[in-house]
Amino acid sequence: MDDGLLAHARAATGFMPDDEGLLLFRRGVERAPHGPLLEVGSYCGKSAVYLGAAVRAAGAGGVLFGVDHHRGSEENQAGWEHHDASLVDPEVGLMDTLPRFRRTVHDAGLEDVVVAVVGESRTVSAHWRTPLSLLFVDGGHGREPAHADYAGWAPWVMADGLLVVHDVFPDPADGGRPPYEVYLRALAGGAFTEVEALGSMRVLRRTAGSPGDPVG
Ligand SMILES: C[S@@+](CC[C@H](N)C(=O)[O-])C[C@H]1O[C@@H](n2cnc3c(N)ncnc32)[C@H](O)[C@@H]1O
Repeated sequence: MDDGLLAHARAATGFMPDDEGLLLFRRGVERAPHGPLLEVGSYCGKSAVYLGAAVRAAGAGGVLFGVDHHRGSEENQAGWEHHDASLVDPEVGLMDTLPRFRRTVHDAGLEDVVVAVVGESRTVSAHWRTPLSLLFVDGGHGREPAHADYAGWAPWVMADGLLVVHDVFPDPADGGRPPYEVYLRALAGGAFTEVEALGSMRVLRRTAGSPGDPVG
């Protein structure tokens, strides 16, 4: 990964250890020539810089869509473990990570390859019809939003495309269950086959079905 972009990724606010970010970069470089990359859960742009750098490295024509309502997940709200008061819009009293996301992407020089899609994930996925070369799922980590993201987005992964799930913890002592449940659901559905595990990242390749087909 380009040294300058790596420095931007490391400096960005967010939830992405460097080794997992570099996995995103490596897998993004592999998949960007074949179609769009899409992440669910952009927050302040940290994973978007790793994936955007991959699009840049792969050459002309690629794109990363970053879907987020930018109001924060449950654990980002006031009083919760991952709350950052500097990300609250004081006039409306709600989290707003979009300005920080835009600043991160601008400063990294990736505005031409990273497109913010601002909205509720389920609303956007219900209208989405474009096959995805790589889908990175890192949105709401509660049971309901995590499964809704899987059901709404995973069908759009193209044949040989990749589904990457973050925060998969087989041991409940290490973290919440829903991303692990989604990972098991993807394997059980028969459309995906695991190809890599690193930290809490799981990488699955679509080995059956076509975009839009149910994935279990
Ligand atoms: C764990 S953070 C993403 C971290 C980011 N990938 C990084 O590298 O730092 C989860 C993000 O998902 C977003 N999110 C949660 N539920 C959502 C939903 N239902 N629709 C859209 N965005 C959602 C939150 O606003 C938050 O920014």
